[in-house]
Amino acid sequence: MTQGMRRLEGKRVVVTGAGSGIGRAIALRMASEGARVVLADVDEGAARKVAAEIEGETLVHQVDVRRADEVEALVGRVVEEWGGLDVMVNNAGVGVAATAPDTTEEDYDRMMDVCVRGTFLGMKYAIPAIRDSGGGSVINMSSIAALVGLTDRAVYCAAKGAILSMTRACAMDHIGEGVRVNCIAPGTVDTPWVARITAGYDDPEEARARMRARQPHGRLVRPDEIAAMAAYLASEEAESVVGACMVVDGGVTAR
Ligand SMILES: NC(=O)c1ccc[n+]([C@@H]2O[C@H](COP(=O)([O-])OP(=O)(O)OC[C@H]3O[C@@H](n4cnc5c(N)ncnc54)[C@H](O)[C@@H]3O)[C@@H](O)[C@H]2O)c1
Repeated sequence: MTQGMRRLEGKRVVVTGAGSGIGRAIALRMASEGARVVLADVDEGAARKVAAEIEGETLVHQVDVRRADEVEALVGRVVEEWGGLDVMVNNAGVGVAATAPDTTEEDYDRMMDVCVRGTFLGMKYAIPAIRDSGGGSVINMSSIAALVGLTDRAVYCAAKGAILSMTRACAMDHIGEGVRVNCIAPGTVDTPWVARITAGYDDPEEARARMRARQPHGRLVRPDEIAAMAAYLASEEAESVVGACMVVDGGVTAR
């Protein structure tokens, strides 16, 4: 498929939530296209394992994206070690399957903090660094939850909708500085996350079958398919893609 594509030669990339699922796939794909990747995750051990899968230059950095001081230190480190930053992937996120009445305030805070505050802080510190490095790309992880009313995902939908709106606003604010801000809206992607969500249902296998059934193309999306979109958005091929929401969902939102 993409063997030998080297669109990201030498680019300095930060991926948050790089220790699992979509973040891992993005880190592997960008590294395979020649990027130097910082694997940032609250779970440092998981990030280390992914780093061990990569042949090229990597850094592993523990970060809780909810904490300004930690996100600032993450961006500071890549600038110090590699002299700048070209691509920021704000991928870390958490979700809880629940309606609004069934969502606890603790779960509300966790989803909003990791998804929205985390993406905000990622942009707050990365955008100036990317601008000072001569321009580049910010990729935020939204979801089709921002676009359609998914059942049992009330606050998650709100969090991902906020990421989409903030992506568009920041795209307008910073395009003059050479910083392209876009987001990806994956459908249901086969990651450890899906296993965790389905585990919360009485019949996990049935919940998983329902997820598959709502995919018009008949299967869950693979993490490497999201990674391919991220690599495109990071590359010069996407120079006219600004403030966009790139849907990779097997047809769910086309229904
Ligand atoms: N899997 C899906 O179906 C799907 C669909 C649409 C969007 N997404 C989004 O894609 C992103 C990645 O999802 P995934 O399925 O790979 O999930 P995952 O749970 O497999 O991986 C998430 C990673 O983020 C890390 N993380 C969690 N909280 C963090 C924090 N506070 N600071 C730093 N790192 C933190 C975790 O340790 C983990 O390594 C999320 O933003 C999610 O909302 C996933």
